Amino acid sequence: MEIIENIASMHALSERKRMEGKLIGFVPTMGFLHEGHLSLIREAKKLSDMVIVSIFVNPTQFKPNEDYDKYPRDLEGDTKKVNSAGGDIIFAPSARDMYPDGYLTYVNVEGITETLCGISRPGHFRGVTTVVTKLFNIVKPHKAFFGQKDYQQSVIIKKMVRDLNMDIDIILLPTVREHDGLAMSSRNSFLSTEERKVAPVLYRALIMASEMVKNGEKNTRKIYSEMKRMIENESLVVIDYIAITDPENLRDISVIEGKTLIALAVRIGDTRLIDNILTEPQGS
Ligand code: PAJ
Repeated sequence: MEIIENIASMHALSERKRMEGKLIGFVPTMGFLHEGHLSLIREAKKLSDMVIVSIFVNPTQFKPNEDYDKYPRDLEGDTKKVNSAGGDIIFAPSARDMYPDGYLTYVNVEGITETLCGISRPGHFRGVTTVVTKLFNIVKPHKAFFGQKDYQQSVIIKKMVRDLNMDIDIILLPTVREHDGLAMSSRNSFLSTEERKVAPVLYRALIMASEMVKNGEKNTRKIYSEMKRMIENESLVVIDYIAITDPENLRDISVIEGKTLIALAVRIGDTRLIDNILTEPQGS
């Protein structure tokens, strides 16, 4: 397995593979890989001839007071994991090469970036769409794989790809969870034992909400307050948002009629966790 750090070398290798007629699958990540990431790599392997995994903790998607510096990093461990999941190449550029002095260009999707996570993390998705565009240009994939765990991110990236006519298939794959339902996340490693114990309340609240929808509850205010009550019942957990929205345009809905996204973000101690579920009334 090869690790490429140099942007020009990555360009050249992808170009060569494309000339050979190889279908390139791409899994962008920030590293500290877990089963969620590995599930994307395994699926990418099934659907492409070669799989490139990027590992880059992208500074432009963190606000100054966020956890960029303490974001967990482990390139050696990640290399073994990528290898075991069937990845072929790791692309791990430096921040200095990605954003050299004098860097000035950003990609911004409007509207859908300003809701949900965009409210407490202004500018976050501008950093994501900028780095993903750069990575797409460097890696030149045919297909790119993303997780439902970051549902809003996937909607924004699909929109960007469509709006900017990027010739790349975006494939969305299900959230991988721990046995107690907690969505896997590199940030789970920040949780203390006490915090880890209460963290599954996110998924419990989502499951309860989804059951309410399936059983015919249409009033989102009722669902919202049941979720709020369940979560606030746990000490240590502070709600950032609970949103019940249209999964396509991420606009809040008041009466549930069809496919619905229920998404939430909380803080447990210093750690921000997100999760979501897609649901719809039974028989709709
Ligand atoms: P990161 O948080 O490392 O996630 C990389 C990819 O793995 C994303 O598509 C994310 O949705 C997916 N993923 C994370 N946890 C998952 C889980 N439990 N189950 C399934 N998939 C999961 O998302 C980013 O990095 C960055 O924003 C990035 C797109 C790389 C741009 O910097």
